[in-house]
Amino acid sequence: MVQKVRKIWFEGEMVEWGEARVHVLTHSLHYGLGAFEGIRAYRCADGRTSIFRLDAHIQRLLDTCRLCMIEPRFTAEQFQQACVALLRENGMVEAYLRPIVFIGEGAMGIYVPNNPVQSVIVAWNWGAYLGEDALHKGIRAKISSWQRHHINVSLTKGKIMGQYTNSVLAKREAKLGGYDEAILLDTQGYVSEGSGENLFIVRRGCLVTPPLSSSILAGITRDTILTLAREEGIPVREDRITRDELYLADEAFFTGTAAEVTPIREVDDRRIGTGAPGPITLQLQRRYFDIVREADDSHPEWHTFLST
Ligand SMILES: Cc1ncc(COP(=O)(O)O)c(C=O)c1O
Repeated sequence: MVQKVRKIWFEGEMVEWGEARVHVLTHSLHYGLGAFEGIRAYRCADGRTSIFRLDAHIQRLLDTCRLCMIEPRFTAEQFQQACVALLRENGMVEAYLRPIVFIGEGAMGIYVPNNPVQSVIVAWNWGAYLGEDALHKGIRAKISSWQRHHINVSLTKGKIMGQYTNSVLAKREAKLGGYDEAILLDTQGYVSEGSGENLFIVRRGCLVTPPLSSSILAGITRDTILTLAREEGIPVREDRITRDELYLADEAFFTGTAAEVTPIREVDDRRIGTGAPGPITLQLQRRYFDIVREADDSHPEWHTFLST
């Protein structure tokens, strides 16, 4: 259960948690067209709170709106300020932030050019998405019977509400089968991503992840990890990965704002590497947590601090 906090940012106003309501005829509830984001704020080593890569997340929110052809009333700067204000208002030092932009009530049917576009931001406390143990020991994943959207069926670079039925189906199948997470192949059979994470493998010292030209979401954590890996001198390739390459990987891990850097210890009941998180995974995971908590201050441009 999501633990209530006091206020929700609702169309530019701070409203009580219980008052942030919409009508059942809200268009996006029926047809799924709308944009959302997931952003984390961390308590840093010096006690300050930083929202990690806020500008990149808000930019992706607006890009998703553009893909959906919906126009929020707010600018990128206003969304960013609203995220900061919401955490301040709720006195939160760590949080998961969920901005959504959706089509409100009015006309029904597929084509509703005049319905209002509404914007809301909710914040709550969210611990390790796949469990604290997952971060240390790694998870068991299963290749899904569901495929990732084809690039000409959906807008895979958008974080679009309705597209997540694909993720929900894959995640349910994996969990009901006794696994922690699903890995989806694309419609050509190449490894795509998890239900809410990007995927990396390590093979003979080289880090490999599917390219942005494939069906993956352009993960902000993916980008962070690619940057950190290059800084660490780890060879990196953005390339297609086949199912057998995944089975033969020395290491594998998921990245995502929610999942952070989660090692994968098994795929389809096959051990990955030694079956324990590998050295490159652990090196990048350590670096990631140092960066988001600013114990490592080498990327000030990735932080938006609540107070200075
Ligand atoms: C399908 C999918 N892939 C990848 C990611 C990881 O993206 P990010 O690192 O920007 O959170 C997410 C989460 O937003 C996702 O939903």
